[in-house]
Amino acid sequence: MGAITPKEDYSNIQNLTFDAVIVGGGGSGMRASYQLAQAGLKVAVLTKVFPTRSHTVAAQGGIGASLGNMQEDNWHFHFYDTVKGSDWLGDQDAIEFMCREAPKVVYELEHMGMPFDRNADGTIYQRPFGGHSANYGDKPVPRACAAADRTGHALLHTLYQSNVKMGTQFFVEWIALDLIRNEAGDVLGVTAIDQETGNIAVFQAKATLFATGGAGRVYRASTNAYINTGDGLGMAARAGIPLQDMEFWQFHPTGVAGAGVLLTEGCRGEGAILRNKDGEPFMERYAPTLKDLAPRDFVSRSMDQEIKEGRGCGPKGDYILLDMTHLGADTIMKRLPSVFEIGKKFANVDITKEPIPVVPTIHYQMGGIPTNMHGQVCLPEAGTDNYTKPVKGFYAIGECSCVSVHGANRLGTNSLLDLVVFGKAAGEHIIDYVTKHHGDEYAPLPTNVLEQTLDRVRKLDESTSGENAQEVADAIRDIVQDHAGVFRTQALLDKGVKEILALEPRVRNIHLKDKSKVFNTARVEALEVENLYEVAKATLISAAARKECRGAHTVVDYELPADHPTYSYGRRDDEWMKHTLWYSSDNRLEYKPVRFKPLTVDAIPPAPRTF
Ligand code: FUM
Repeated sequence: MGAITPKEDYSNIQNLTFDAVIVGGGGSGMRASYQLAQAGLKVAVLTKVFPTRSHTVAAQGGIGASLGNMQEDNWHFHFYDTVKGSDWLGDQDAIEFMCREAPKVVYELEHMGMPFDRNADGTIYQRPFGGHSANYGDKPVPRACAAADRTGHALLHTLYQSNVKMGTQFFVEWIALDLIRNEAGDVLGVTAIDQETGNIAVFQAKATLFATGGAGRVYRASTNAYINTGDGLGMAARAGIPLQDMEFWQFHPTGVAGAGVLLTEGCRGEGAILRNKDGEPFMERYAPTLKDLAPRDFVSRSMDQEIKEGRGCGPKGDYILLDMTHLGADTIMKRLPSVFEIGKKFANVDITKEPIPVVPTIHYQMGGIPTNMHGQVCLPEAGTDNYTKPVKGFYAIGECSCVSVHGANRLGTNSLLDLVVFGKAAGEHIIDYVTKHHGDEYAPLPTNVLEQTLDRVRKLDESTSGENAQEVADAIRDIVQDHAGVFRTQALLDKGVKEILALEPRVRNIHLKDKSKVFNTARVEALEVENLYEVAKATLISAAARKECRGAHTVVDYELPADHPTYSYGRRDDEWMKHTLWYSSDNRLEYKPVRFKPLTVDAIPPAPRTF
């Protein structure tokens, strides 16, 4: 590998070659790696934490599939709910694909050994979840296939064990640093750092798949794991790939107040009720049909509205109560055992006896790296209106990607589903690409393959003064939290853009005090800040430019006309029914059309979104 000319301090740089390198060991990464290893490909999974500790573990309530085990259901209803849930920003071909594949991928997981809860007849237990309805919206339907309230945990263990059986190579506690692209723009792998030793390596691959998860740590209060710093997004953005629809961030209605820890929507699926300070089950006013099981954007806004209008609970009136006391201890201990534990540990509340304080808390990014249904990262084709040009060798799946099945607002349970459906689809495409089109050859690495990475690492090593990484990260979080919340205003968003751009000199001037190499978490945090910053810019700049309300993007300036028949929160303008693309190099925005035509059925036309 003659191209690499390290200085003495990085003289041990290895070049490792694989058919496929997957960055991220959560649900989507491991579903893809399983597919690839099973087909006999040489696969590496780089993962920041041990795979079963990936953030997928936090998805508690279930994976969506219209199995119809407990009430009649079919994928057409799931498709309709997902399109409506997305506020018509989701691409209807991808949504159809996901909803049709759902039963198949859930049965595959069952056959791999995933320990789902069971009904008396032996079928998989399913519970209702937000926005999932029977018969095109008339009442909630049990569609979330659940393993108690530990579905993500069960999924990760099932996939990890299946991967071990197939011989996937895991690089645990490794962090990818930069994407390797050649002059033609093809992707040839990543550079990465081993936390245990501080050593850097080049992972050269025929196919590179990002499954790096979300970036929920760009907000101050978050249900997300501390590892969710948007590393895949940062790497892609620095390498010239646009980020799509980053203005759309989901607030989960039930984060534990003051702690942020998630209480699954499965609580409300089992019958829990949100109450204001008067004990009123207020969701009946906002969403008369689905009530507490309306989609998350709806419920979060309703909660914030109650708080704003003085009906919040507690001494400061700043939270809502989630009441599970009527469910009974038996149901709670059987169906929601982790919620019981979380209540005790994070709120000192026995949920079998008293309601628990909750607030809407950031949970999920709907946007990400633009892809097609095979997971191929796609760019605009110069001189045309097409946005479908695959970047050779580059794939993205799961929360870091935007395919786009969630549009402006994701339905609960569709995240685990997205991971598994598109993990498998990308795996299948990579097998084809590597075996049929690539042969044994690796494309030559560019001569400057390590330049960007070593520049970043050396800059930290050589720093003698400057900013503390955590203080800069907190400043980023404060700006995003304070300017891009549940309710946004145009003035706040514009101010947020100015503040985030003004932060750049601080981001570029981080000082690493501790230069040691072995498990130096300060070095890792300093490198992560650069990724977080890309995500923050993408979020605020994309949000400030979208002059309407859609899904989770609620700008109070864009009011609903007074004669609108039902309660809602703002004016959706279908002139804006288009995807945002943000480019890091010059903060440019482009817009690409929503794919409105499903694969085999009629499109669901835009309509008012009431529940
Ligand atoms: O509420 C939950 O259990 C979270 C699941 C999801 O985000 O899909």
